[in-house]
Amino acid sequence: MTAKQEPKLFKKTYLFSPGYVLPAIMEKNNIETTVKNFEVRDEDVFLVTYPKAGTNWTMEIISAIQNIDNIDILKEKALNEKVPLLELGPSTHPDLVEEGITDVPSLAKVMLETIPKGSPRGIPTHLFPEQAPAELFKKKPKTIVVDRNPKDCLISLYNWHLSVRFLDPLTWEEMFDAYMKGLTVYGDYCEFTKAWAKYKNEPWIFWIRYEDIKKDHKGSVKRIAEFMGKSLTDAQVDEVVRVTGFQYMKKANETIKGRDFILRPEGVWQRKGVSGGWKNTFTVFQNEAFDKYYDEKMKGYEDLKYEF
Ligand code: A3P
Repeated sequence: MTAKQEPKLFKKTYLFSPGYVLPAIMEKNNIETTVKNFEVRDEDVFLVTYPKAGTNWTMEIISAIQNIDNIDILKEKALNEKVPLLELGPSTHPDLVEEGITDVPSLAKVMLETIPKGSPRGIPTHLFPEQAPAELFKKKPKTIVVDRNPKDCLISLYNWHLSVRFLDPLTWEEMFDAYMKGLTVYGDYCEFTKAWAKYKNEPWIFWIRYEDIKKDHKGSVKRIAEFMGKSLTDAQVDEVVRVTGFQYMKKANETIKGRDFILRPEGVWQRKGVSGGWKNTFTVFQNEAFDKYYDEKMKGYEDLKYEF
């Protein structure tokens, strides 16, 4: 009898649970304790996304709406400082220490300890519901879920591997194969989407697609603000649209990049910001394999499916 083969994981990643790989910069113990027991406040706004679905863009929209009277605050901090993922840190994994990444705290803890009650918090996470804070499902604060064409997410994730120091570069073929074997970080897109879809029609959830925000930035800002219970003037909506435009965000983030520990020198936060870019990279064979996998996985969830 042959011994059960362990999946071959990429460096700087680990198996959180069977079939669920996370980046080593998101520590298991921190997720199971600090994140799970994270004290949710009624005034919090959570943002749930599969990686690369437009987390930073939407988070910037949420922050701009929350800080509409002091919008310049958005320019003062690097993206990873102002919109930290709930599950980020601490960085004790040997692969990260080897890379020289040693000083990332548990951001859930930092948030808990430093943001005064009553101040608006925007809290992004890529976790499945089962790893998210238990109180999220009891307190039900306003929660925005952003979905994106999974093929575009994969391309973006591949480029993210080239961009950040806490993951290692890989080829597109390696990325695609790893995804199909369930070895890429944050798990399977379809499982993630189906897991959050259980809550889709609850009043505390606002479900929106990256593509809808692309198509109608202004209308989407209005709808998000309305969901957040914020009434903005037309001029304020325009201002949120302006400071969350792709070029504006790109320029702002490049200016403060020196303070950004996450990115490699050639790395980018705002890469292309388009819909349908996957067509330039997927081979015919990969596309057929993906469509087959997608159709099987999303059976019964047709309303959530993308037309490619
Ligand atoms: P691409 O790599 O396809 O360009 P996340 O924040 O979840 O990591 O998502 C990253 C993706 O959102 C990247 O996609 C990035 O370019 C895109 N993005 C970031 N800011 C954006 C903006 N202001 N408008 C449109 N897309 C944006």
